[in-house]
Amino acid sequence: MLENLDKIRSKFSEELKAIDSNDKLEKLRVAFLGKKGLVTEELKNIKNLANDVKKVAGKELNILKNEIEAAIAQYQKTLEEMEYQKEIDNAEVYDYSIPSEKPVGTLHPISIVQKQIEDIFKTMGFVIEDGLEIQTEYNNFEAVNIPKNHPARDMQDTYYLENGQILKTHTSAAQNTIMKKYGAPNPGETLKVLFPGRCFRNENLDASHENTFFQLEGMMIGEDISISNLIYFMRVLLTEVFERDVKVRLRPGYFPFVEPGFELDINCEICGGDGCTTCKNTGWIELLPCGMIHPNVLSMGGIDPEKYTGFAFGLGLTRLAMMKYNIKDIRLFNGGNLKQLKQFVK
Ligand code: PHE
Repeated sequence: MLENLDKIRSKFSEELKAIDSNDKLEKLRVAFLGKKGLVTEELKNIKNLANDVKKVAGKELNILKNEIEAAIAQYQKTLEEMEYQKEIDNAEVYDYSIPSEKPVGTLHPISIVQKQIEDIFKTMGFVIEDGLEIQTEYNNFEAVNIPKNHPARDMQDTYYLENGQILKTHTSAAQNTIMKKYGAPNPGETLKVLFPGRCFRNENLDASHENTFFQLEGMMIGEDISISNLIYFMRVLLTEVFERDVKVRLRPGYFPFVEPGFELDINCEICGGDGCTTCKNTGWIELLPCGMIHPNVLSMGGIDPEKYTGFAFGLGLTRLAMMKYNIKDIRLFNGGNLKQLKQFVK
């Protein structure tokens, strides 16, 4: 009996060496440990043995069984490693330092304009911040002075997520977080931040409305910030982007988070002011809502409104790109038509 076990042991080791797949390993397991496997048969035979050898044989058989089980488990790992090694050996080798022959990707027109504005504002001392796309209702509304049930919430038809959070409807959703992050500026200094981002509203799509669009918001806070600062920065922005003087008009505008609030419109670059579908036949495009930050918003951001003032503007980045590149239909931006999008590469 014990001789038999030794034979089984060496037969197993011999056969294991030749195994090169999980299937074969499974067959081997069945051949030794399966219902009619060699080890199982020996176990069945124990009952026929004389009482004095039964105990020893049982013990030895168990040892053998455990050995085989362990060897199979171990071999499974070896097979996995062999599999990885095969993948590595067969993988295509790339040399990332070789210059590409095909043209590489191009920047999206919105990214081009965004980068251009970021560069302008960086030279004027602004820092660039990212805002989250998924926001709390607090950040998107309450913190910018739009409490629950305030009718101004209806101005922005909002996508709500199941967990109660929302897709941000405007870049202003980052104002509170940014104020808390930087705090009030040191005496004699100002806080200047630019925060571009993708926004979402439930819009009916047409030539000038998209449910997914980009805004670029800016904020400047200090001890003596006034509307003149606001107008100055807006002028610089538009002159630089259009590389010439653009006709603008400022009219009062209502946003709960600014007081006073304005709408800065630019002359429609598509029709030159005559009226077209993009400007809804008015000759003007609403581009730059702005105003002096409401004292409530400053105090919710932890900045003392008795001591500090500031302005904020929320540039419609998508609309600006339309004006700059004479794009008549806003749907082109998210349309994914590379042929159209590539035209704007600089
Ligand atoms: N968040 C406003 C909107 O999307 C725009 C805005 C920003 C207005 C900053 C004033 C100041 O409608």
